[in-house]
Amino acid sequence: MAKNDTTAATRLTPALARAGFTSSFGVLAATLGSAVGLGNIWKFPYLTGANGGAGFLLVYVLATVLVALPVMMAEISLGRAGKANPITTLQTLAPKGQPWWLMGVAGMLAAFLILSFYSEVVAWVFAYVVKAASGAILSSDPQVTEAAFGALISDPLQSLLWQWGVLAFIGGILLLGVTKGIEAITKKLMPILLLLLVLLCAVSLSLDKAVQGLAFLFQPDFSKITASVVLTAMGLAFFKLSIGMGTMMTYGSYFRDDQNIPLTTVRVMAADVCISMLAGIAIFPAVFTFGFAPTAGPALVFITIPAVFSQIPMGQALMVVFFVLASIAATGAMLSLMEVPVAILHERMGWSRPKATLLTMGLLVLLGSTSALSNSTLADFKLAGMTPFDLFDFVSSNILLPVGGIFIALFVGWVWGFEKFSRSLTNHGQLHNHRVARAVFFLLRYVSPALILMVMLKGLKVF
Ligand code: TRP
Repeated sequence: MAKNDTTAATRLTPALARAGFTSSFGVLAATLGSAVGLGNIWKFPYLTGANGGAGFLLVYVLATVLVALPVMMAEISLGRAGKANPITTLQTLAPKGQPWWLMGVAGMLAAFLILSFYSEVVAWVFAYVVKAASGAILSSDPQVTEAAFGALISDPLQSLLWQWGVLAFIGGILLLGVTKGIEAITKKLMPILLLLLVLLCAVSLSLDKAVQGLAFLFQPDFSKITASVVLTAMGLAFFKLSIGMGTMMTYGSYFRDDQNIPLTTVRVMAADVCISMLAGIAIFPAVFTFGFAPTAGPALVFITIPAVFSQIPMGQALMVVFFVLASIAATGAMLSLMEVPVAILHERMGWSRPKATLLTMGLLVLLGSTSALSNSTLADFKLAGMTPFDLFDFVSSNILLPVGGIFIALFVGWVWGFEKFSRSLTNHGQLHNHRVARAVFFLLRYVSPALILMVMLKGLKVF
């Protein structure tokens, strides 16, 4: 790979001209930086717990490999071919007059919905750095950790201020133009987060009821796999790989022309699945040992992680480190989400980047606040039986991202065509990815759109 890097660095590809990534490893790390975030540490454990454990995990892994991975390859290929924001890319690649660029517009809306609840979860993680430092939450007593989390989310002022703080922090990074620097820091710190997760797994596995936790996570009870469980698992697969709304198309636009797309996406996917697995192994043995409810919902990680840390020497300090690293991972993912609306407003509306950033932040403060208040002031304000927080989470993962996936698959399968797709996956025939290209193209053209649609219609009980 090193040899590849030097030859490519001396050749000015269009991707480099667009200030793209400069090394093959850089591409991998940056893509991973978008994929790995609270989806791994927070959403995966909570959904696995809420949907019955191993059966859900199995469907999630299948959905990741069979549906999300092909769509990810498609999305990145389109981005690299278009080399612009999603709207412009789709306009360039589609035949004249066909409105595929609307997908870019839908993606921008999806980004706002996701950011509206994601920013609140990031806010909890930031707040937990402070809580961890105070020592108040270091306990294996469910009542103590649940009360601490409850106190945070049911306090409207704290929830709002932490969220606005997070938005100001992310906005600051974008306004100062130091995104690249932050990504570089993320890259360096990720291995430490990984080590900490491994340590947590070791601690959790030594607990009394570790076996029960592992059985929950790895021994499927097929009777628990309902249509809505399948939809949730598929939505999670999309969410975790950051696909279906233009983030990966935007990242693809920075990909170098000599980057091996199938290899990169497979690596990102594998790493992303493994990190989630570690989070699961760290959490579920503790859930059963200390008597937490696996179905605790979005609170799950926040109430169980302190219990694991309470079992080890220097637990308090290590827990602070854990939440700092989780904050950084979340920041990387959030920046990749922000990139979509900011790039669209900047490149399409001709606004300066600061103006685009400020407008995005302003809208997020408004919309996001409804998520922040979902466990306090707005707890009874429900649409379709869900608070704004739950609704944004549900609609984005279970509807918008899958619909985005359907259109990406249809576009590549029926409009862009095999010729161009195969040239993209093989870098104009230089790589031996011909068979992969054929198989993935077949999936995109015939299988993915129908499968995603069916899962959605069944899961949403449309029929
Ligand atoms: N994948 C990220 C996570 O797991 C979240 C994320 C970043 C995302 N960009 C996205 C989700 C785009 C959907 C679409 O935390």
